[in-house]
Parts: sequence; C-alpha cells; structure tokens
Amino acid sequence: MTTADTDLDRHWATVLKWHPYWLLATGTLLSVARPELTPAGGERIATVVLIVAALVLQLWWGRARRLRTGPDAVSAAYFALRWTLSVVLTWLNPFFAFYAATGYIDNNELIADRRWRRAGAFASSLPLAAAQAGGVPFARAEQWALFAGLLLVNNALLTMVGYFVQHEEERSAARAATIGELERTNTALQKAHDENAALQAQLLLQAREAGIVEERRRLAAEIHDTIAQGMTGIIAQLQVVSGTADPATAHEHVERAAALARHSLGEARRSVQNLAPVGLVHDTLPQALRKSVAQWADQHGVYADFTLAGEALELHSELSATLLRITQEALTNAAKHAGASRVGVTLSYMDSEVTLDVRDNGRGFDPLRLPKRTGTGGFGLEGMRSRAERVAGSLTVESEPGYGTAVSTRLPLVRP
Ligand SMILES: Nc1ncnc2c1ncn2[C@@H]1O[C@H](COP(=O)(O)OP(=O)(O)OP(=O)(O)O)[C@@H](O)[C@H]1O
Ligand SMILES: [Mg+2]
Repeated sequence: MTTADTDLDRHWATVLKWHPYWLLATGTLLSVARPELTPAGGERIATVVLIVAALVLQLWWGRARRLRTGPDAVSAAYFALRWTLSVVLTWLNPFFAFYAATGYIDNNELIADRRWRRAGAFASSLPLAAAQAGGVPFARAEQWALFAGLLLVNNALLTMVGYFVQHEEERSAARAATIGELERTNTALQKAHDENAALQAQLLLQAREAGIVEERRRLAAEIHDTIAQGMTGIIAQLQVVSGTADPATAHEHVERAAALARHSLGEARRSVQNLAPVGLVHDTLPQALRKSVAQWADQHGVYADFTLAGEALELHSELSATLLRITQEALTNAAKHAGASRVGVTLSYMDSEVTLDVRDNGRGFDPLRLPKRTGTGGFGLEGMRSRAERVAGSLTVESEPGYGTAVSTRLPLVRP
C-alpha cells in the first residue's frame, strides 16, 4: 500500500467516526437559527430529547464500533435506530435532514448485505426528499408529487455515485491484488536469490576444498615419482657401497647413485615447472618406454620386454607423461616387491583409447589387502590411479599371491 493510500484510509476513518456529530450539529444549529420552524413548545422539548438521544446513541456506538471488524447485526441495528431518530427529527424540523444524510455515508460500513445497503440508502433518502419538498406533514397536495420527484432524483444520484464508487472499489481491489502478487513474487525472488548466493558460496568452498585435495594428490604423486623413487634407488646403491670392500665396485655404485640423484633432481625441477618427464624431451612415448624397460632390465638383471600394438599415434603430452610415469612406478614396484623373473610392458593404440599393461610373474599380492600406508611408502598405486583419473582414464590392478601382477591403464585418446 502506498503512503497516499494510507493517508486516504486515515481521512476516511476520521469522516466515518465524526460525520454523525457534524451533521447532527449542523441540523441543530440551523434549527436554532430558524426557531419558527418548530414553534410548539412540546415539539421543541421532543427535539431536545431526541438530540440528546442521538448523542447518547452516537457515544455508545463510538465504543461499540471499536470491538467490530466489519458490518454485523449490531451495526445494522445502530443504523436503523439512527435512521428512526433522523426521521422523527426531520419531521420536527426539516433541517435535521442533514442528520438523515449520515445513512448515505456509512451504509456500506454498517450493513453487510448489498441489497439491504441499497434499502438503507433509499430509506435515508426518504427524510431528505421530504425535507427538500418543504417538510412533513405536507400542507399541499402537489408537495407529494414534488416529494416523489425528489425521491427519484435523489435515488438516481445515489445509484450513479454508487456505480462509480463500486467500480473504483473493484479497481482498487484489483490493484491491491496485483501489488500483493508482485510483493509475493518479489519475496520469492529474493528468497531464491539468497538461496542461490548461499549455494554458490557453498559450491565455491567445496570447489576450493576439492581443488586443495586434488592438488595435494598431484603433488604427492609428483614427489613420489621423482624424489622418492630416486631416493629409493640411491639408498639401494649406497647400501651396496657400504657393504663392499672392493674400491672399484664401490666407485661404480657411487657413480650410479650420483647419476640417479642428478636424474631425480632434474625430474623434480621439471615437475615443479610442469614440464614433461626428461625421457619424453627427445623421444616419442614408445621410444621412451622401450628405453625405460631396457634400463630397468639392465639395472635389476631381470628379463623385460616392451611390445607395441597398433599404429603409434602422437598423443597429448599429458597422456604420454601419465603413461611413462605409471610404467616407471609399476616397474619400480616389480623390482621392489615382486621378485619376478620376467616382466612385460605392452602399449596398445586403439580407435578411441590407448592402453598400457605392465605384467610380472612375481609373487603377487592381494590388492584388497594392501599393507597399511606408512610414512615411507604406499603411495605408488594410489598415485598411478590418480594420474590416470586426472586425464579421464582408469587404472586396475589384477594380482593374486603366487600368480604375478598386472597393472592395466586405459586412457581416452586425446591428440595434441
Ligand atoms: N608388482 C608387485 N608385486 C607384488 N606386490 C606388489 C606389486 N606392486 C605393489 N605391490 C604391493 O602393493 C603395495 C603397495 O604398493 P605401492 O606402490 O602403493 O607402495 P610401495 O611400493 O610399498 O611404496 P611407494 O611406492 O610409496 O614407495 C606394496 O607394498 C606391495 O605390497
Ligand atoms: Mg611403489
């Protein structure tokens, strides 16, 4: 509701409350000014008594109306009583027709039924038309005709005003309904907006947390595949050095340890800069894999071969790096845990995917009963899997104690 609407409602409430007093006062003042219209003493006393009665009725209604929210039987009875008083007062002095006009003003507020409202307005028009015709009792016969004519005019005016008032009320009600609907829509929109904002904040938080977890996994895999793998090799070489008395053997293994350290450092630097593994700088993936497998076989004295199936296609560098890292870790595991005599690495290019299998004929293990991850190990398998998943691929480990191990990776084929 607008401020103008509220102001209008307030003024209308004032009119409804005070108009019977104002109109009664107007009638009283005019009748005092023209005392010749009520010459008889008895009539004057009756007038005063009726004015007092009208005032008492008005004071009572002033209290009674506060308890009511709309028209009811009591308000209708008040209307009827006031009308009766106004008719008798108008009979005694036509100026009290002003008081009878109250029925025009508040019949809608006092009478519930629409038809009875019309009847109330018509009833109020009777003393008014009678007063306009010269006051009752009529002295001349033509006054009756005049009364009838005035009654018609009064009611025609009432009907016309009533028509416009009703239309205006309907329009106001429609406007209020539209405004109410708009307010409801606005509230719903605001609520949806608030919910969206909360959801967005939650999503952002989740995304950030997921990002942190993902980044931690990526770093764990990088550290594992560069520094940790290198350290494992270096420790193995140094253990040989500490256990041998032969200076030549010791020298050879120290050299290998130094080469491993240099290699690991280089790989760690490259991974920090997000560069491809050093093995892929000059070679294609099949070449790099062939070299890694040969080097591994030489280093560990285990038979290992590399097989290429399908036509080698150029892959996106992320895929090549992923497959090389996975091979390196699978080979490291085979050396560390399998005790195998034979290892095979197969790279296959298919229409829409590329697969990599690393098999050994070693002691195998139960993938569902992995030893608890310790501070020094247990990151390899998970690192391989998360590397594959990061490029929308998958990794499965098939193994059984006594039956070797197969690590299979499938990646959707993505060209550079
Ligand atoms: N080829 C394999 N043959 C036998 N057991 C294996 C093989 N690969 C993995 N395992 C078993 O699975 C476990 C988990 O391997 P994973 O690579 O995750 O950890 P890790 O090699 O022990 O340590 P890290 O790789 O972190 O240095 C190993 O400890 C080992 O018991
Ligand atoms: Mg490992």
